[in-house]
Amino acid sequence: MEQREDKLKDIISHAKEYGFVFPSSEIYDGLSATYDYGQLGAELKNNLKTYWWKSMVQMHDNIVGLDSAIFMHPTTWKASGHIDAFNDPLIDNKDSKKRYRADVLIEDYIEKQRQKIEKEVEKGIKRFGADFDETQFRATNPNVLRSQEKIDSVEKRMKESLEANDLEAVYQLIVDLEITCPISGSKNWTEVRQFNLMFSTELGSVSGEAATIYLRPETAQGIFVNFLNVQKSGRMKIPFGIAQIGKAFRNEIVARQFIFRMREFEQMEMQFFVRPGEEMKWYNYWKEFRLNWHHALNLGDEKYRYHDHLKLAHYANAASDIEFDFPMGFKELEGIHSRTDFDLKQHEQHSGKKLHYFDPELNQSYVPYVIETSIGLDRMFLAVLSASYKNETLEDGSERVVLKIPATLAPYKACIMPLVKKDGLPEKAREIIKMLQLDFMLQYDEKDSIGKRYRRQDAIGTPFSVTVDHQSLEDNMVTIRDRDTMEQQRVLISELSTILHQKCSWTALFN
Ligand code: GAP
Repeated sequence: MEQREDKLKDIISHAKEYGFVFPSSEIYDGLSATYDYGQLGAELKNNLKTYWWKSMVQMHDNIVGLDSAIFMHPTTWKASGHIDAFNDPLIDNKDSKKRYRADVLIEDYIEKQRQKIEKEVEKGIKRFGADFDETQFRATNPNVLRSQEKIDSVEKRMKESLEANDLEAVYQLIVDLEITCPISGSKNWTEVRQFNLMFSTELGSVSGEAATIYLRPETAQGIFVNFLNVQKSGRMKIPFGIAQIGKAFRNEIVARQFIFRMREFEQMEMQFFVRPGEEMKWYNYWKEFRLNWHHALNLGDEKYRYHDHLKLAHYANAASDIEFDFPMGFKELEGIHSRTDFDLKQHEQHSGKKLHYFDPELNQSYVPYVIETSIGLDRMFLAVLSASYKNETLEDGSERVVLKIPATLAPYKACIMPLVKKDGLPEKAREIIKMLQLDFMLQYDEKDSIGKRYRRQDAIGTPFSVTVDHQSLEDNMVTIRDRDTMEQQRVLISELSTILHQKCSWTALFN
């Protein structure tokens, strides 16, 4: 665990040193849980958005995009249930004065029990070697069974108390499990209270009076209130989807772990409108589709797992997370929710406007059901960064830090370097950049030795380094070095575009 925490620290400092992520308003000592994306972070973030948008919108003829406002009519949030139910149960430790989400404390306890099981399994593998039958071991080993029983009973109690909104029972569970504060180590807890996560501000009206409005806590509601506008103007037929990328804001109680949990973050959400009764078919479809989207990045399939929700949000009849193995352990990266017809019906009631769809095939009018896919862009950024970050010892004993970011997502696709800063080599390098820069993000670097320049490009994840030398002026060939294999090859300048296309284009990633 300590090693993992160290890895997160290394990633945070690497991200800052190389211009990926900075603490927000750092010259004023920063603002908690708020971050700025630097020159390379902005590129990676844009590439992640493009990957999502292409896959969800461009490659589906029945999904269209939207860019709705952050501010919405305040009744939106009454209708959606966020004013009444978008709460987290919080608890304070009286000694450390630290505030926690009560459900997260309990989930951490459950995760520890899971880790115990995995340790037992590892011991079994070591002891029995090739003869080890993991399924049987998990079903019969007394230590595994004991931990599993604990997990089941804690999950059941937590689900029941949260669903009944019984905060005393949540408190009692924390006491019974003897959960201690990670900072003070004490069990000196306050009672559990509910805390609304929406930020509010005031909108000055014409008469000088002010109305309370909210910063949207999810982009989804902008899609729901535009359901009919898009359906009618785009002549969309069910099943169809509306996708949106945009900022969301939550006054998180426990905002920590770098860009994993922030108060201002970005979501990529898609609402898929379907016939009532067909929602489970589409729920399963999108669960699988979204997992495949992640797997296509080749960061390691074992780094993802589904986690079906115990406590369903107020709008859902089924929900599953795709969890990722972050440096802090497996945590939610994306949610797939079957939101029923809850949102559209609520908006019908509160607005007095009909949000029905006339289905010509059924000759029937109904309120569609909705499957939602919702991923945090910043979490996706952290997933890619942490899975790509490698500390390698090379054959000659030297070390390098390399970001093995999938080539299409890398901030720069290639760095063009003149071997020396004279003899017409910089001019030749600039010529190459001019030839390729409309299609590829490129960097120019002429400072320090070639070895140092390679290391700099490794550290920011540039898939290729291209060196222009004296010979290049005569034969129009350059040396291209691969970030991952570190192999070097002599190629014609005229071949560079094809090479970069083969490795770094969207076609390369989607194929
Ligand atoms: N519209 C549904 C919705 O908002 P959610 O599970 O609350 O569902 C969806 O959020 C995704 O947004 C999460 O899976 C996560 O990736 C991201 N997310 C949520 N809160 C976040 C936060 N405070 N900081 C960064 N990302 C967050």
